[in-house]
Amino acid sequence: MNKLDSSLVARALREAGFAVVEQATDADAVIINTCSVRAHAEERVFSHLGHLKHIRKTRPQTVVVVMGCMAQRLGRRLLEHEAVDIVVGPGQIPRIPQMLADAIADRSAGKHIAVSAEIRAAGSESEARRLDEFEAAFDSDENHIKSQAFVRVMRGCNNFCSYCVVPYVRGPEISRPPGAIMEQIRKLAGGGIRQVTLLGQTVNSYEYPAGDRTYYLADLLEMASAIEGVRWIRVITSHPGKFDDSILHAMAGLEKVCPYLHLPAQSGSDEILKAMNRHYTAAEYLDLLGRAREIVGDIAIAGDFIVGFPGETEADFEATAELVRRACYKNIFVFKYSPRPGTHAVKKLADSVPYEVKQRRNGELLDQQNEIAADYNMRFVGRDVEVLVEGLSKKPHLNRAEHEDNPQLIGRTATDYIVVFNGPESLTGTFAKVRIGKTTALTLFGEVAEGPCYNKNSIAS
Ligand code: 5AD
Ligand code: SF4
Repeated sequence: MNKLDSSLVARALREAGFAVVEQATDADAVIINTCSVRAHAEERVFSHLGHLKHIRKTRPQTVVVVMGCMAQRLGRRLLEHEAVDIVVGPGQIPRIPQMLADAIADRSAGKHIAVSAEIRAAGSESEARRLDEFEAAFDSDENHIKSQAFVRVMRGCNNFCSYCVVPYVRGPEISRPPGAIMEQIRKLAGGGIRQVTLLGQTVNSYEYPAGDRTYYLADLLEMASAIEGVRWIRVITSHPGKFDDSILHAMAGLEKVCPYLHLPAQSGSDEILKAMNRHYTAAEYLDLLGRAREIVGDIAIAGDFIVGFPGETEADFEATAELVRRACYKNIFVFKYSPRPGTHAVKKLADSVPYEVKQRRNGELLDQQNEIAADYNMRFVGRDVEVLVEGLSKKPHLNRAEHEDNPQLIGRTATDYIVVFNGPESLTGTFAKVRIGKTTALTLFGEVAEGPCYNKNSIAS
């Protein structure tokens, strides 16, 4: 969501005559897009602001904008920071170009704020319309990885998981009209986009009533599949509660829909899941994974977990470890519980698990997953996989100078596996076939293979 918001604002500013510079010290304006999900993300913003305060000693004209969830959450408190001029919540980003232009034109005009006053109120529908227009006007592939684009299908979240700040800063769920979504995908495909990722905080709750029928995520997948030029369609992120099998059937039946789900479990303990307000048990979650594998076949699943939620005992943690052993994930993201102001968990439950224990559980869960994935990934050795090439890998010593014609590249399979191989940089944005020679827990390594690409379930071929 934040990557998409950043790219929309960047494009809008470029069209307003701004250009991106590499260094904050060369900039007329610095915009920080922020996340409030964990305290750590917010602390990093304050450290950037400290740095900007320093820069402004020699460049007082630099305008500093803080946008995103932290701007919405802290509002005026953030505006009081010495290094901040403009604060803009995620619902108000269409106003950034004008606010910025005004601030640059008149540095004496003071500080400005635009956040949603009633984030949970129905009034946010008109805000959503303005956001839709902004998105339609400034969406482009310029800021995405070549050939790939994000398409938001819904905003907000109604789940109120007890630890989570998102419903308070992003507002209630609002699904976009299917027609607008398809129009956007058609435009992107016409501009060379080959992979679209349908985005939503809980994308499987997409629901849009229109006349005598209601559109669901499976309908979007079917409609998007019919659009010429698009080859891969992904969805992120899903909530395991109320997950309709029609999505799995769409994944199984539609060639273009990638067999991949990001399906956060958060915990494997039923007590903790209840305290988290997640509305499913560990058994129900595993049952959903079973159905996904039965219906879709070789589907890859990624998960999120929070360790050290209030009251999490060793037995609760062991239940989570057991769930990870049984789920057979492609990868997991593990987070240490971070109390967020205003959430139910903060109001009702003490942050009882010491930091050291959170740290240990975090490490243990990842180590266990890495062992499982390292073993599991060996099945790829000797196989050909199809990847969409994202570009140069992040290892400068391997992708420049002596490797100029054949640098190290990175791509992803339809199932979201990261594949590293050598090839000409011109492959970026295209589909390539790679023969896997070596694997680790998180990465497949290989060489470009001859012959036609397969689609979708290339992994099984
Ligand atoms: N503390 C730690 N992790 C959190 N997440 C959400 N809120 C918190 C929190 N307060 C994690 C969840 C979610 C991911 C995006 O961030 O695992 O899936
Ligand atoms: Fe947060 Fe839960 Fe909504 Fe995900 S589903 S954004 S964890 S409240």
